[in-house]
Amino acid sequence: MRIAINTGGGDAPGLNAVIEAVVMSAWYRNWEVYGIRQGYHGLLDTDDIIQLTPDKVRNISSVGGTILGTTNKGNPFEMPFENGAGEVEIRDVSDRVVRNFQRLGFDCLIAVGGDGSLKIAHDFFKKGIPVIGVPKTIDNDMVGTVATFGFDTAVSIATEAIDRLHSTAKSHDRVMVVEVMGRHAGWIALNSGVSGGARAILIPEIPFDIDVVCEQIMNDELQGTRYAIVVAAEGAKPLGGEIVHRGDGEKGRQDVLLGGIGNVVAEAINKKTGKDTRSLVLGHLQRGGSPTTFDRLLALRFGAAAVRLVEAKQFGRMVALNPPNIDAVLLEDVVGAIRTVPLESDTLQTARDIGISFGEPAS
Ligand code: F6P
Repeated sequence: MRIAINTGGGDAPGLNAVIEAVVMSAWYRNWEVYGIRQGYHGLLDTDDIIQLTPDKVRNISSVGGTILGTTNKGNPFEMPFENGAGEVEIRDVSDRVVRNFQRLGFDCLIAVGGDGSLKIAHDFFKKGIPVIGVPKTIDNDMVGTVATFGFDTAVSIATEAIDRLHSTAKSHDRVMVVEVMGRHAGWIALNSGVSGGARAILIPEIPFDIDVVCEQIMNDELQGTRYAIVVAAEGAKPLGGEIVHRGDGEKGRQDVLLGGIGNVVAEAINKKTGKDTRSLVLGHLQRGGSPTTFDRLLALRFGAAAVRLVEAKQFGRMVALNPPNIDAVLLEDVVGAIRTVPLESDTLQTARDIGISFGEPAS
């Protein structure tokens, strides 16, 4: 058996653990594993394919990033090319990928990626490549699995950052707005905000009213708490898609789709409350470095489970955490969808119970 493996999309702590588990599980079955570099690019230009043997992967599970490299600009079904006249043309080069895959004698592809990369994996499955998907994203928004690796690490990093901000915010009587990752779902913001004692958490699932957030900050002030931490997911949206600065006679529109929601929120709070505010974007810090033990173990389990699926010839599936087990779900049932935070989630309820605001207007 010759297995090809690639990692696609934004990196997440735990990718190397998947690779290690795949290589070792295959090795003990006397199978070969080949690493495809830079997502699907390595199957377009095949010079860089490397055989992965135990000596190349031993103990990489604790190392962040991916030894195979990754990219989120490599969909072979819609590849951008410069056409020579300074224009970008989109071409479908997926047949070339299939031809190279067959020429190299691979029996299957283990594709480790987020929704975008696994959608591509599913499209290749439909073109005849035996594929197994392994879900990855720090955002935790993949459908079909209770968790993705990388998420626990991102939450730990964000929580530590919030913990550290308390003392500086308190010393200066400031409002600190922390922007965390999560374009479509507020999992990181919710879990780190609750764990870290945020005063307000802004997530894409609940459009927020900035006036409600400000009211809470000013009520706290009246009761003697003169600082606050607000955690905003990068995809959080104000009600109506804009923040209105009342009182200064003009309507200051901020297009949150341009990003920088943390900044937008901090400015609005400053304008509306007069409080000193600062914002910071945690950004890629949340993706860098070693995976937590939880993520490492989950990723190792995903990798080993992927090889068991290869053995059982259960292609077109994605490994998934369904505690306490690792299950397999059909790729066609999970790609193209986003798992957002359910509004009846227990963590969300816990946050409300302990007085954390989501900026929801009173109904
Ligand atoms: O993995 C998804 C994500 O973490 C998003 O929350 C974020 O918008 C994105 O990655 C940024 O990734 P990059 O800078 O690599 O495009």
